Amino acid sequence: MGVMSLEDLPGVGPSTAEKLRSAGYTTVEAIAVASPAELSAAAEIGESNAAKIIAAARKLANIGDFETGDKVFERRQSVRKITTGSKDLDALLGGGVETQAITEFFGEYGSGKSQLCFQLAVNVQLPVEEGGLDGSVIVIDTESTFRPERIAQMAEAKGLDPNDVLKNIHIARAYNSNHQMLLVDRAKEIANGLRSNGKPVKLLIVDSLTAHFRAEYVGRGTLADRQQKLNKHLHDLIKFGEIFNAAIVVTNQVMAKPDSYFFDSTAPVGGHVVAHTATFRVYLRKSKGNLRIARLIDSPCLPEAEAMFRITEMGIEDGKNR
Ligand SMILES: Nc1ncnc2c1ncn2[C@@H]1O[C@H](COP(=O)(O)OP(=O)(O)OP(=O)(O)O)[C@@H](O)[C@H]1O
Ligand SMILES: [Mg+2]
Repeated sequence: MGVMSLEDLPGVGPSTAEKLRSAGYTTVEAIAVASPAELSAAAEIGESNAAKIIAAARKLANIGDFETGDKVFERRQSVRKITTGSKDLDALLGGGVETQAITEFFGEYGSGKSQLCFQLAVNVQLPVEEGGLDGSVIVIDTESTFRPERIAQMAEAKGLDPNDVLKNIHIARAYNSNHQMLLVDRAKEIANGLRSNGKPVKLLIVDSLTAHFRAEYVGRGTLADRQQKLNKHLHDLIKFGEIFNAAIVVTNQVMAKPDSYFFDSTAPVGGHVVAHTATFRVYLRKSKGNLRIARLIDSPCLPEAEAMFRITEMGIEDGKNR
């Protein structure tokens, strides 16, 4: 897919393109997934005009239309996998973390969600022969838990230059759930830029997916609103994965002990919305010492099973001695 500019859209001249850009719609893909009302308000154009532009953008970006099975098959052929660092966990996931899919790691504090994210941010930069995609990474960090020192440690363990590895990781701190959602648009701009000039983005991490949503939408009355926002966010993320053939990895904290009557230990925040959108849901729990157990939950094509891995100074490693 070549890089498309807004002026490629019929009906978009330089002045409309300028308005769209200054309203934050900098890519054809961003327009393709906008609603007519949104676009018309943002760029001061009529709603029917906005609808036409969106339709053209969808066509150009190949988004949101029916496709024949062979097209889907063709796209699936381009799916790639990133090693987690643990052979058993890779096997559980059918070979590693997939591109064009959302992988959700959920579990209690300290279960290894962020450590897995860090490891993947390093591993995606490895050459293909070593389980990577020779790509760069975008991280949306919602709780300021990103640790460059830890990345450096993991990079060194893989024989990579920590500085080079850190240079290929683009991190943004999300201040609230709205900001978190907007950062996906920004991520698209960065990924578009790197597509033609640099290491293409092959991994987008959101750690944590749900923390802001959980903190901001409290009480039963706000649940529907929260789920709707989360749903949109997840769809934006999956689009990103498809457009850039990138893996999407998100985390979701759950309490080990039920703290209220309607959340049990295996009911992560976001409930059915995340469940229906995430392609791979992996429940992490602590075992003895640095051992962790990963359980794959309702995958469309893989059996529900478990794998063990370890978190060591080197990063994510096999649980069993091999
Ligand atoms: N440098 C290191 N060497 C060895 N183990 C480490 C190192 N850094 C972190 N760990 C292990 O990783 C665990 C923390 O895991 P992680 O930060 O991924 O948890 P989490 O699931 O993201 O938790 P939270 O929900 O609080 O974000 C710690 O308990 C520690 O045992
Ligand atoms: Mg964490």
